Amino acid sequence: MKRALITGVTGQDGSYLSELLLDKGYEVYGIMRRKSVVDYGNVEHLKDKIKFIYADMTDVVSLISAMKISQADEIFNLAAQSFVATSWEQPLATADIDAVGAINILEAVRIVRPEAKFYQASTSEMFGLVQEIPQKETTPFYPRSPYGVAKLYGHWITKNYRESYNLFACSGILFNHESERRGKEFVTRKITDAAARIKLGKQQYLELGNMDSKRDWGHSADYVKAMWLMLQQDTPDDYVIATNETRTVREFVDIAFKKAGIELAWKGSGVNETATNKQNGKVVVKVNPKFFRPAEVDLLIGDPTKAETNLGWKREVSFEQLVSRMVENDIRLVGEEK
Ligand code: GDD
Repeated sequence: MKRALITGVTGQDGSYLSELLLDKGYEVYGIMRRKSVVDYGNVEHLKDKIKFIYADMTDVVSLISAMKISQADEIFNLAAQSFVATSWEQPLATADIDAVGAINILEAVRIVRPEAKFYQASTSEMFGLVQEIPQKETTPFYPRSPYGVAKLYGHWITKNYRESYNLFACSGILFNHESERRGKEFVTRKITDAAARIKLGKQQYLELGNMDSKRDWGHSADYVKAMWLMLQQDTPDDYVIATNETRTVREFVDIAFKKAGIELAWKGSGVNETATNKQNGKVVVKVNPKFFRPAEVDLLIGDPTKAETNLGWKREVSFEQLVSRMVENDIRLVGEEK
């Protein structure tokens, strides 16, 4: 039986990856941070199957201990301060967790089980002010947030440990990936939750920031398969995981509201842009500059050819299906609220 250790196990990706590995017969260990109230997050339904270890990405001693307890064959480093906007408010905490945290877990692997395979959650945010369209493994990086900069360190230190110590260490440069389990601070879930609430009369309008930014959105369940595939190869390497499609935030809003049965009419521009519900003329989408970021990533679109060719990876959930699943799930959840 193979053993896996997942940092960030309670998050969206941690939950889908745990399901995948448990299905494959792995013994799954998950790192949890101590909190006053135990919170299993997205793995509540798996809490009797995952073996939890209390540790913290900023405490290398706790990670060495997690490696000793789990004796993991495969380590997936998914733990992060992953919300880009927060990285301007907490730049040092973001650096501690996302940058130093990466070398901490790499050191723990190197010291305890250098023969183990390691996956680092890298990100399309590293492309930031994009130098090439679409972005691929060879595209130069230009991060635009403290988060992107911290993740770039995680990416390079992973490559460096591969080259310095011959560790089987891979980075997946994952473009945005969403799901029914996505946190509500991220734009997609914020939109689908609002569309459901507005449809059911529980919210009047949705306030957003920059609706012109373009993202390449896939489904998390597809993306965790790529993480696993990277560690099943003969040689470690880095891969872009993306759909090669891009849409604006505005397009996401339009489609999500349509799936909730609300047709929108857009007018105005910049901070004065609004969308009204065509059926009743009410304004349901507004711009609030408080959601603008000090520096923006305007356009992301990834080329997954290398992953498709070398790993045989293919995304299965289309953009339309992704939005439908999220909207339907939120309508159900909001409907069940007391
Ligand atoms: N969150 C949020 N809230 N974003 C908004 C809003 C809003 O009200 N209005 C507009 N946006 C825009 C953001 O400015 C950004 O351009 C885009 O919507 C997507 O924002 P997020 O969903 O917060 O995701 P992200 O692209 O910044 O980061 C996500 O993807 C990265 C991969 O590219 C996160 O999952 C990162 O952890 C991940 O690395």
